[in-house]
Amino acid sequence: MNRITTLFNIKYPIIQAGMVWVSGYKLASAVSNAGGLGLLGAGSMYPEVLREHIQKCKKATSKPFGVNIPMLYPNIEEIMKIIVEEKVQIVFTSAGNPMTWTSYLKENGITVVHVVSSSKFALRAQEAGVDAIVAEGFEAGGHNGREETTTFTLIPMVKEQIKIPIIAAGGIANGNGMLAAMVLGADGVQVGSRFAASVESSAHDNFKQVILNTKEGETQLTLKELTPVRLIKNKFFEDIQELYKKCPTKEDLSQLLGRARAKKGIFEGDLTEGELEIGQVAGLIHDIKTAETIIADMMQEYQRAQKEVADFLF
Ligand SMILES: Cc1cc2nc3c(=O)[nH]c(=O)nc-3n(C[C@H](O)[C@H](O)[C@H](O)COP(=O)(O)O)c2cc1C
Repeated sequence: MNRITTLFNIKYPIIQAGMVWVSGYKLASAVSNAGGLGLLGAGSMYPEVLREHIQKCKKATSKPFGVNIPMLYPNIEEIMKIIVEEKVQIVFTSAGNPMTWTSYLKENGITVVHVVSSSKFALRAQEAGVDAIVAEGFEAGGHNGREETTTFTLIPMVKEQIKIPIIAAGGIANGNGMLAAMVLGADGVQVGSRFAASVESSAHDNFKQVILNTKEGETQLTLKELTPVRLIKNKFFEDIQELYKKCPTKEDLSQLLGRARAKKGIFEGDLTEGELEIGQVAGLIHDIKTAETIIADMMQEYQRAQKEVADFLF
């Protein structure tokens, strides 16, 4: 037991990241059933679709699960209302100011976690009254901080500043990475890319396959002028690079991005024109596994690594 397993009432301190077009009720419930904490990714769901996923998740698991809500969401009021009506117990907020919704959620008895990419925002989240933070490093898949602080440096720096539990995210796909994060000061880990390539992930098979084929150096953080995002270097990414040569305005970049690029890439499997969000750690992902196996393997590797480290202590 540690601060994170106690906070969420789960067996292992492994949180499956909320991910657009990836984490519906099938993935979230499988992770929760395997002893981690599954999160529904509300960012790609219309409010009523989210309600349906919450209801299906409740049927598929009796264990705790949560919902990730990017706060840039256009229907945020409606989403929050559904969270309360459906008696969701755990909410992870991201991409926004933690002051906006934390008190409302806490008043409704909900455990709140906020995602940050710097010590400054970690402190702000703590002041806002959240129960824990996710500290997400530069390696991570999806939207990310502008400062490019890596998980390896971010976790100890956040640890120096805040008292509430820390969940490390970015670059963790196996038990060795998990142990490293815990040694640096994390109380738990949030894992994204590894679960995107799972059997229960709702991503298109083309997207799952491209994760397996992505090697070191084949992802990059881009579109910093809009919302920074780490992408696989496909044709759409190259189009962005070409546009950068012309010193584009924010509007030019927005126009190129257009709408529903992530859906196109992740959910519809368009590997050419779609936005393919994945972390640097894709280079370590070589197979598609069930959520249960991912968690069992991580815990086994974690324990093995712990023993190995103890053996070479001097
Ligand atoms: C395909 C994909 C979609 C994501 N969507 C979201 C999202 O909707 N909300 C969010 O807070 N983070 C999102 N993320 C970031 C993850 O929550 C997580 O913090 C990150 O993946 C951790 O790094 P890793 O990919 O190295 O494990 C996404 C990541 C990926 C790979």
